[in-house]
Amino acid sequence: MQTVREFDYERDMEKFFNRIVWIENACYRFPWPRQVISETLEPSPVRKCFLLLEDDVLNGVSFYDAVLDEATLNKHSIIPERQGRGLGGLLLREGMSMLREKYGIRRFYLDVRESNIPARRLYASQGFIESGIRKNYYHAPHGFENAVLMERIFSAEEA
Ligand SMILES: CC(C)(COP(=O)(O)OP(=O)(O)OC[C@H]1O[C@@H](n2cnc3c(N)ncnc32)[C@H](O)[C@@H]1OP(=O)(O)O)[C@@H](O)C(=O)NCCC(=O)NCCS
Repeated sequence: MQTVREFDYERDMEKFFNRIVWIENACYRFPWPRQVISETLEPSPVRKCFLLLEDDVLNGVSFYDAVLDEATLNKHSIIPERQGRGLGGLLLREGMSMLREKYGIRRFYLDVRESNIPARRLYASQGFIESGIRKNYYHAPHGFENAVLMERIFSAEEA
C-alpha cells in the first residue's frame, strides 16, 4: 500500500537521503546537486518535504516552501518505473491536504516546463490553473524553455 507522510529529519535523513538523490537524478535532465538536496532537507520552518512510501520503499518525493498561507511546490517526483499510475496525483493530493490541515496553507503556486505535458496535466487534474508564462526561464538542451506558472487557491469554504 502506498502512503504519504511528511519527511522527518531525524527519522528519515540517513535512511532515505541517497534514495532521494537517486530519484532526483533519475527524474530530471538538470537535477539539483546532492548538496542542494541535503540543505533543502535540513529542518526549517519554511521547507516542507513529503514522501510517498510503499512499505519501506520510497517511490516519490515532493518539496515545498511554505510561508504564511502560501506554498510553492518546487519539486514533485515519482520514480520512472512507477509513473503514469496515479501516484503523482496521490502524492500531490495528500501533500497539499497535510499542508492545508497542519500549516493552514490556502494558496499553492508552482512553475513547470512548457514541454512537461504529464506534469501540466497532473496539476490541472488537481485544480491548478495556468496564471502566466515566464519566457526562457529554464535551461534546455538547446537553449532555454518557458515556464508555465500555475496556482491553486482554496477558498475558505472548501473542505
Ligand atoms: C510529473 C509526475 C510527477 C506525474 O506523476 P505520475 O505518477 O506519472 O502521474 P499520474 O499517474 O498521477 O497522472 C496524473 C495525470 O498526468 C497524466 N499523465 C501521466 N503521465 C503522462 C504522460 N506520460 N503523458 C501524458 N499525460 C500523462 C495522467 O493522464 C493524469 O491525468 P488525468 O488525471 O487527467 O488522467 C511524474 O511523471 C514525474 O515524476 N515526472 C518526472 C519529474 C517531473 O517532471 N516532475 C514535475 C516537475 S517538478
